Amino acid sequence: MDILVKEDYERLSLAAARLIAQQLRRKPESVLGLATGTTPLGLYRELVRMHREEGLSFARATTFNLDEYYGLAPSDPRSYRRFMEEHLFAHVDVDPARVHLPDGLAPDGEAECARYEQAIAQAGGIDLQVLGIGRNGHIGFNEPGTSLGTTTQVVDLTDETVSVNSRLVQAEIPRRAISMGIKSIMRSHAILLLACGPEKAEIVAKALEGRVTPDLPASILQLHPNLTVLLDREAAAFLSPGEAAAEVREVL
Ligand code: F6R
Repeated sequence: MDILVKEDYERLSLAAARLIAQQLRRKPESVLGLATGTTPLGLYRELVRMHREEGLSFARATTFNLDEYYGLAPSDPRSYRRFMEEHLFAHVDVDPARVHLPDGLAPDGEAECARYEQAIAQAGGIDLQVLGIGRNGHIGFNEPGTSLGTTTQVVDLTDETVSVNSRLVQAEIPRRAISMGIKSIMRSHAILLLACGPEKAEIVAKALEGRVTPDLPASILQLHPNLTVLLDREAAAFLSPGEAAAEVREVL
């Protein structure tokens, strides 16, 4: 595990974008796993800038988002499809045929989950998966208690997640979602976990330094062989100064 601590959110976003740009330049046909939420907004802003000003191309890349609300049309302003269009896809040269999110309107949820897993496998697996972390330690929409062996599945969101996310879009969000499972995430060749702000400090420390347990889904990431964690100073505040500090590299 590589833990990189940046001074602030701007620098964290820049560093994350550089890592993704590096991946795309090394392998233009990369399969990227993408997240929504407030954390990656700065990352997407910087990727759009790199596309416009530095010619960073997504033309040969394939993307898979972690999750989508179950019951929402892609055009719904609350949907993750709309979020991705607004913040990234509409502003870069990604091929719409190679953009994937679970279908929130799929009549058969189970079949949609199987189809999504198969599509990831057919694309050759995810080269680099971007993750945020929920205040309760969820990754994707894998809430505490999710078995570590899960693949893409229909999940029930916790009251906390429903209320945090409803506040974000200023509208009630569905109580169910389709989310890549923990096993689907762990199969990615590389993972980039992003966290910022003081409200993530406690859960970040527990996830990275505590026991690996289904009660804190992000803790399983400790077992991933190629994990990079990018934090701002506030989110890194509770990492213990002992053992973990040896791993913390300051990148200015
Ligand atoms: C988003 C996702 C979630 C978020 C997490 C953090 O696709 O799967 O796990 O990454 O809820 O959200 P923010 O960044 O809004 O704090």
